[in-house]
Amino acid sequence: MTKSSSTLFSTFRSNLPSMAGKTAVITGTTSGTGKAAAMTLAKLGAKVLVLNRASHRSTTSSSELTVAFPNAQIHSVECDLQAFDSVETASAQVAELCPEGVHVLCNNAGVMALPDTATADGFDVQMQTNHLSHFLLTRNLMPLLDRASNATGETRVVNHSSVARLSPSKTLHPEYLERRGGELGGNGSAFQNAMFRGARWLRYNQSKLANCAFTAALHHQLQKQGSNIKALVAHPGLSNTQLQKTSVKEGGMGSVVTNLMMRFSQTPEEGAMGILSAMCLTNAKSGQFYGPGSGASALKGPARPFDLEAFYDNAETRDLLWQKSVHAIGKDFSI
Ligand SMILES: NC(=O)c1ccc[n+]([C@@H]2O[C@H](COP(=O)([O-])OP(=O)(O)OC[C@H]3O[C@@H](n4cnc5c(N)ncnc54)[C@H](OP(=O)(O)O)[C@@H]3O)[C@@H](O)[C@H]2O)c1
Repeated sequence: MTKSSSTLFSTFRSNLPSMAGKTAVITGTTSGTGKAAAMTLAKLGAKVLVLNRASHRSTTSSSELTVAFPNAQIHSVECDLQAFDSVETASAQVAELCPEGVHVLCNNAGVMALPDTATADGFDVQMQTNHLSHFLLTRNLMPLLDRASNATGETRVVNHSSVARLSPSKTLHPEYLERRGGELGGNGSAFQNAMFRGARWLRYNQSKLANCAFTAALHHQLQKQGSNIKALVAHPGLSNTQLQKTSVKEGGMGSVVTNLMMRFSQTPEEGAMGILSAMCLTNAKSGQFYGPGSGASALKGPARPFDLEAFYDNAETRDLLWQKSVHAIGKDFSI
């Protein structure tokens, strides 16, 4: 079902600058947009660290990367975003592997419409995987981003959000960031899931809204401190990856509607154009959002920059996101 390349993507890639001399850390590269981004960064000459939980998919995708780019510096680091302990161990490993610092951190990994389950840390599986563990990882890698930005003038944190940030709620609700995994609305009926409604989708919506609020909060704090670290966010439109297949398997989407919908999707490479723009383009600015448009119908096409949106880029939401996330990881995160 997945096309491996596209004209749109090859034209896009040919306009990206060299990333030689830069170090990029990317989460979730076993398939989809993360895999496309890792392949592209390696092709552009970057040193690439791929952070994945241990699995056959992780081993296979890492060896595909090293086989495709035998001269590239590629490091595979085990990191399970469902567990803060694993993020801590991975952060320490990244620090050891990158004495030069980190130029780009791409918080890409994600899960969608999973059942109402708690991680071992007690948080909603979608919120911890998609946002809270990335918040902790970013906090831990700040000194490395700072080090590289002092040497080269700028570094970047790129978060991966979704059109799902727009609905069903444009308000970030505190309970989704609390230790209430498994108590956040249940699993919904087959009808609701087939139609992308109900509690599973609200939990996904909240995690993707959190990606944006995190970007906005980080952007404002970095700017206030005069930092050279940029905070950006992207969304892939609708991209034909493993994401939907996993959701269907876990009961979060109806297969008939999903198969019909995916006829209108773009390839994983095209879906990666937003994060790649934010990671690589020399004119990308802190506080920008890259995607095939800002509205609910922006499902495919070239990634273009637009401004962060007022429904999460406001003092109340930024503070809520930061305070709840700091409390969740149990560590101070001061810029
Ligand atoms: N595809 C779309 O249409 C779409 C639309 C909007 C937003 N997005 C966003 O795009 C991002 C990438 O998703 P994708 O579409 O490329 O899906 P994908 O092909 O399923 O890739 C998701 C990646 O996240 C990893 N991941 C999941 N749980 C993890 C965990 N606990 N620890 C470490 N890694 C974990 C997966 O690794 P495993 O192999 O270990 O599962 C995989 O590498 C996500 O943030 C998603 O929300 C996608």
